[in-house]
Amino acid sequence: MARLIIVSNRVAVPAEGKDAVSAGGLAVAVKEAFSAYEGLWFGWSGNIRDNPSPEPELIDRGPIQYAVLDLSPQDHREYYAGFANRALWPIMHYRIGLGTFSRSDYAGYQRVNQTFAQALAKLVEPDDLIWVHDYHLLPLASELRGQGIANPIGYFHHIPWPAADVFNTLPASGELLRAMADYDLIGLQTDSDVQNLSRNFIDTMRAIPLGGGSMMVDGRRTRIRAFPIGIDVASFKDAADKAGSNKVVRETMAGLRTRKLLIGVDRLDYSKGVPERMEAVDRFFASNPDQRGNVVYIQITPKSRSEVPEYEQLSREVNEKVGDINGMLGEPAWTPIQYVTKAYPRPVLAGLYRAARVGLVTPMRDGMNLVAKEYIVAQSEEDPGVLVLSKFAGAARQLPEALLVNPYDRFEVAEAIRQALYMPRGERLERWKPMAERMLREDVDWWARNFMAELETFRTVEREPPTT
Ligand code: F6P
Repeated sequence: MARLIIVSNRVAVPAEGKDAVSAGGLAVAVKEAFSAYEGLWFGWSGNIRDNPSPEPELIDRGPIQYAVLDLSPQDHREYYAGFANRALWPIMHYRIGLGTFSRSDYAGYQRVNQTFAQALAKLVEPDDLIWVHDYHLLPLASELRGQGIANPIGYFHHIPWPAADVFNTLPASGELLRAMADYDLIGLQTDSDVQNLSRNFIDTMRAIPLGGGSMMVDGRRTRIRAFPIGIDVASFKDAADKAGSNKVVRETMAGLRTRKLLIGVDRLDYSKGVPERMEAVDRFFASNPDQRGNVVYIQITPKSRSEVPEYEQLSREVNEKVGDINGMLGEPAWTPIQYVTKAYPRPVLAGLYRAARVGLVTPMRDGMNLVAKEYIVAQSEEDPGVLVLSKFAGAARQLPEALLVNPYDRFEVAEAIRQALYMPRGERLERWKPMAERMLREDVDWWARNFMAELETFRTVEREPPTT
């Protein structure tokens, strides 16, 4: 069996005695990619330690081997919290004003990519395929090539690629683009991401388009293509079908009584549009006063990246907004917004999605958004709910039958909530069915198989030995 090496910042090492990876977004995707290969998953251990070893810890769990490195506090600050999450993340999400570029953070980002490449190069065998994930590792292929690695290397970008002019505001943009040309295959979520990155390649590096997404850059061929990521439909649907017996789901439904449920589930991130969504819900109750007391909005928002100041600021902003809206509108017997920052397991979320009449997925910008897909898959044919979806989420391309909204317009989102709540079953079914069928066809297995089939074609490409 051929070997696949997956590289990502976070690595989901299963507990001892288990050989299956846990069921989170990237973990599910990686598990699927490994199904046809022997696997090695390489990345950060999740630990921060003084003087970390440059040699990865090797962990064997069934068919997958793990190789993980610790980060020093400085690495973590500069590479992860700094350059990846204060410079790349906001710019990729069109938030130029939130971007903070620091030369020392960028140096840390390059240093960690180099350390990863040096450690990984020692583990690579000649027939291995390498698949790198996420914006933390844009220069990894270039560093690996510098270490003499000639294997096919693919990259998947889970978040949006912005318009070329937006990306070019980043002081390191040219250098990063040049490094990315060392990937054989670059996968993005949507065709418009592909157009944006291709434009960047053509303008900045005088890349020559060869048709079909292939480009010639400095005498090397690279391919840029859309591979919209999917979800594990069978297991999610099964979880939703069985969720009635789950304690949290049962208690939540009992608490609702006859009230209709609006649900939002997002990592606490400014790209997800949580405060803007709350304002839209507030607007909805202002223009539909008869619905006060009849509708409850549950927002589940696990905290993330709290070490990054913009996320701490957002956390305070959301707390304040929830307090204001509940204080102004609530009654002793009715709390309009139930806001929780705990992370719930997938079976609980599946059950809550099934119970919710409306799924609110209104990011200001999102690479794909798997919550939108999970909400659709969790619905039942007997009584499907309605998805209100931002047109700036990559998922909108595959879910055009949802109520598509502009998340910057709270009046439009409030109106979509009203429309969703009053929509007759016939129309709900008509909208939901084609989306559910598409989710089944274009699932996570379809995504991983397509990417790997394309990466396989680079096995035969002859590469010049590196000049360094
Ligand atoms: O969406 C991009 C992404 O890196 C995902 O791959 C990951 O699951 C998510 O963001 C969480 O980010 P972090 O690792 O910073 O908590």
